[in-house]
Amino acid sequence: MMSKKSKDSRNNVPKNKVRKHNLEYFDNSNFETKDINEVTSLLLDTYKTYNGRRFLNDDNLNCLLPSDKIELERSTLSHLLLRHRWKGNFCSPIKEKLNTRGTTILDVGCGPGLWTIDMGLKYPSSSIIAIDIDSSNFPPSDQHPQNVCFLTCNAIDGIPFPQNTFDFVNISMMWSVFSEAQWILVIKELVRVLKHDGWIEFTEPDPMVKNRGKKLTWLMEHFSKACQEIRDVNVHIHEKIPNYIKEMDELKDLTCMSVDYPLGEWYGCFGDYAIKNFKRVFQGLVFLPKYMEMSNEEFNGLLNGCFEEANKNKSFFTIYKCFAKKASGEVSII
Ligand SMILES: C[S@@+](CC[C@H](N)C(=O)[O-])C[C@H]1O[C@@H](n2cnc3c(N)ncnc32)[C@H](O)[C@@H]1O
Repeated sequence: MMSKKSKDSRNNVPKNKVRKHNLEYFDNSNFETKDINEVTSLLLDTYKTYNGRRFLNDDNLNCLLPSDKIELERSTLSHLLLRHRWKGNFCSPIKEKLNTRGTTILDVGCGPGLWTIDMGLKYPSSSIIAIDIDSSNFPPSDQHPQNVCFLTCNAIDGIPFPQNTFDFVNISMMWSVFSEAQWILVIKELVRVLKHDGWIEFTEPDPMVKNRGKKLTWLMEHFSKACQEIRDVNVHIHEKIPNYIKEMDELKDLTCMSVDYPLGEWYGCFGDYAIKNFKRVFQGLVFLPKYMEMSNEEFNGLLNGCFEEANKNKSFFTIYKCFAKKASGEVSII
């Protein structure tokens, strides 16, 4: 049963019914500086603002993180850090295939499309479709390679392609997006659109920092509970993904790998950027200060304290990749 605290917390999240119409945020003085997409979004109430951050305005979404410029910058930094740590953009054994004309790739929840653009440039023989529910971060068409295409799509409603379309499906850092039930639906859809002998790859973190002090432990415990209670999001989804894969008869050859992701100046330039990224994630979880019964200032103070601790204790977390192949469609005649 839901505790009183969690019920109260639910009332504090941006799902509130009584809110300003976006037009009230429209102030004439900065009208000239808004581009037409931004104006249209405001008129259509595509977004809502909460605690100074912009969120997608759809109560059916469980997405924890904002959809704004700060998040766009964070997700760009996150991509660069991930690529550096994994020494590349993927681990599935598909390099050769990607250099073959006609190979098709799907990137799900592409954000600003850094991974997609990287892959498009590196593998000009492949065609890449990148989907995201929020098109506001897509790059303009003259700023990405022509073998890349961005499509607005809510993955929960299904992937708008026929079965057996893609040779490679990539889904990365979506821990903050789906409930467990939605993950199962989305994975089924991704496997449906994956070709036989094609590969699907998941990249998700274990967000529980290791080598943490008291403050980080306190923050982590509240973070995990708040995401589950407020948005039905299990932030430990990396633990479930291998089982989801094993339960799908069509998938085989499951491989799981992990890398450590050091946090703090103790690990030089990488650790410094990694902790900045981490801090921005927590600043984006705008419901957390209220859940922890703290003011925004107190919460920021806690974050700073946590990161001092991380540096002292040489903290790190772990990122997992799981990849598997869709079984061949050939019917055995034996
Ligand atoms: C944390 S970002 C991950 C970006 C990128 N995949 C990466 O590895 O950095 C989550 C992305 O999922 C998108 N998203 C949220 N809900 C979605 C949905 N239902 N369908 C498709 N994309 C969604 C968000 O707009 C955002 O761009």
